This record gives sequence, C-alpha cells and structure tokens, in this order.
Amino acid sequence: MSHRSKVVLAYSGGLDTSVAIPWLREKKGADVVALTVNVGQPGDLEAVRAKAERSGAAKALLVDARQEFAEEFLAPALRANALYEGIYPLGTALARPLIGRHLVEVARREGATYVAHGCTAKGNDQVRFDLSTTSLAPDLEVIAPAREWKMTREEEVAYAAQHGIPVASGPASPYSIDENLWGRSIECGVLEDPAIEPPEEVFGWTRSPQSAPDQPSYVQLSFERGLPVAVDGHRVPLAELIVQMNRTAGAAGVGRIDHLESRVVGIKSREIYECPGATVLLAAHQALEALTLPRDLLDFKRTVEQRYAQMVYDGFWFTPLRGALDAFVTSTQERVTGEVAVKLYKGSARVVGRRSPHSIYQQSLATYSSGDRFRPEMSEGFIYVWGLPARTWAATASHPAAVAPRAAKHRS
Ligand code: ARG
Repeated sequence: MSHRSKVVLAYSGGLDTSVAIPWLREKKGADVVALTVNVGQPGDLEAVRAKAERSGAAKALLVDARQEFAEEFLAPALRANALYEGIYPLGTALARPLIGRHLVEVARREGATYVAHGCTAKGNDQVRFDLSTTSLAPDLEVIAPAREWKMTREEEVAYAAQHGIPVASGPASPYSIDENLWGRSIECGVLEDPAIEPPEEVFGWTRSPQSAPDQPSYVQLSFERGLPVAVDGHRVPLAELIVQMNRTAGAAGVGRIDHLESRVVGIKSREIYECPGATVLLAAHQALEALTLPRDLLDFKRTVEQRYAQMVYDGFWFTPLRGALDAFVTSTQERVTGEVAVKLYKGSARVVGRRSPHSIYQQSLATYSSGDRFRPEMSEGFIYVWGLPARTWAATASHPAAVAPRAAKHRS
C-alpha cells in the first residue's frame, strides 16, 4: 500500500487556494483535504466546497463556525473594545486563529502531517495562521504555497487552466477582499495610493453616507455583562445580532474606515474596511462602560485593550497572556448591563442615550439645579491636599522652574 502524506488546506475558493491544490499534490506529493470555514462571508460556500473537489482535492469539507466565531472570538474582542491602532476592529485577524484551530482538528482526524494556507509572504495572515496552528500543534508543519511559488498572476491562471481549474471569466477584480461577520476588508488596486480617495466601487456593505437616508434612524441595544443580547427589545443570538447590525448600520452609511496600517512584517499598507456592525456595537459598549465603571478601572482597562488588540493583530491568540488579559476583561464586565440608544445618520453612529441598573452616574451629585447633594465646602480642602506636591515642587528655590525670585531680579 502506497503511503502518501496528507495536507489540510484552508480553502477559500479563490485563485490562490485553488491553484494550491494541484501544486501541493505535485510539489509535495501530498493528498489535499480542503477545508472551507464559514465565518459569515457571503457567497455559496457549498459551491466553494465542491470547487475544491473539482480542483483535485481528495476530500473537501465545509464547517459552519459562525456561532463559534461570534461567541469565542468576537465576544471577547468586543468586551475588550479591541481596535488595532485605535481604528481597525480586527475582523480578519480574529478569524485566523479560529480557522487555524479547525485546520488542526481536521489534521488530527485525518492523520495529516501538514496544514496549508494561501497567504503570501507580505501579509499578516501568514503570521496568524503559522502561529495559531503551531501553537496548538507544534508537531504539524505549515506549508504556504503562495509564499513558495514564484508565479505571477498570469502564470497562476495558466497553471489553473492546465490543471482544469475553473477561473472566473472576464477581467479579474483589482481588489483583494476578505469578509466575515466582523467586517469586510479591501486592499490593492488604486487603494495602494494612499493619497487617493477610495472609489465608490470598493464598498459592498455600506451605502455612501451621501446617498444614505436623509432621516436618522435609532437602534436600542441591550447588553448583559458586556455583550449585546437584544435589538429594540428582541433577543437575538450574537452572530445574528451582528449580521443584523451590519445591515442596519451599513444602510445608514456607517462603518467605513480608511487605515494607513502598520503590518507585523514592517510594511505600511493602505486598507479600507467596512465594519458597520462592529462600529455600532463598539460605540455602544464603550458608552455603557462609561456609565457603569469607575475612572481608574476605565483608565487601566484602556491600556489592557491596546495590548489585547495588538496581540490579536500580531497572531498571538493562543498564548497565556491573551488568556490572562481576557480573564481580566471578563471580570470588568460584571456590571456592564443596560441599554444604549444609537442614532444612525448619514455615516455617523452616535450614542444618544444610555441606562443601566448599575449606573454610577448620580444626578444628585452632577446637577447644577435643585436636589444637589454634593458638599461644596469639601472641595477646597481636597484640592489643597491634591495639589500639595505640585506647589511644594514649584516653591523649592533650587529648582530652575521656581518662579518666586523673578520679580526681584527685574528690579535690580
Ligand atoms: N490588513 C488586514 C489584517 O491584516 C486585512 C488583511 C486581509 N485583507 C485582504 N483584503 N486580503 O488584518
């Protein structure tokens, strides 16, 4: 019995991963198990699965991981307000460790010695796939065909034709697009010039703010322990809630992001994102935290959030630090329960109301009207002590910044 090795390939149905199937067979002598993971990207994924078989895969699998993606990856990212460089909600970066975990599971079940992905040598996704799969299974070897072969796009098309792989006819789109529940990312083509405004054609999930309805709309989001559980009073599972928000906010032109991004590999790149749902949910979540969490906790959490976002971006999902940061973030969410009203209007999503049974906002302390319970006589003494170090410092003559002697000097 001939013993051929097996490789599990993360398969999207695009040109790179399709060409990778015969390439892995020929160059690595391996049988290919293609794995397509549904993380909420649009399209007929059963047709994608079938295409892997027609492209020469020994086996082709399709896994619906939408719920798992929402609950185990997007939920913690939302609680952590994770935004890379303060702007990118990390949709692509969060999906990679999930797909990596499925690659490893299938590799175990199939007795494969390799996993493979279609990423090139210049991006972040190779880092995330390589790190997540090898962190879970150090014995597995990763093959990245598009990192190894030296084919141009034209050569790839020719290679596909030779191997009977169907290639979409017509001019190929100049854009590289990645989509999942948490957003859509578009790069390449004219977008490579960061001085040029993205043409309307790159957007797929959002109306242009200009052509969005002239009337504002409102969404009422209910949160429990830092996670959204209902829209306008209707309870919805997280994955569906995100889909619904993508639709509602996208129709109002909300969620377009233009990011001059710093990649892990040192390259700067210009990325366009459409993240209508994430934009609304992150804004609402932060507003509820502001209402329910004290200042020092919010402040410390922000530093954790930045580190968290960077770890996700950098491919360090399956690490003890990320797990420990998650435990911290989860512990902060105990009282982040309540309702937030968001106003959607021509590209903007603004929080216009918030309410919580755990609110630490007290009108009797904040008010400038009647019913004030604050004791104004306490402020002067508080500020005396609070400012004591600064005044002591300033009054110390040996310090060059001391201001007292100046008048005397002018007189002499
Ligand atoms: N720059 C984003 C990231 O590293 C998205 C990358 C994938 N985008 C794409 N169009 N292929 O997370």
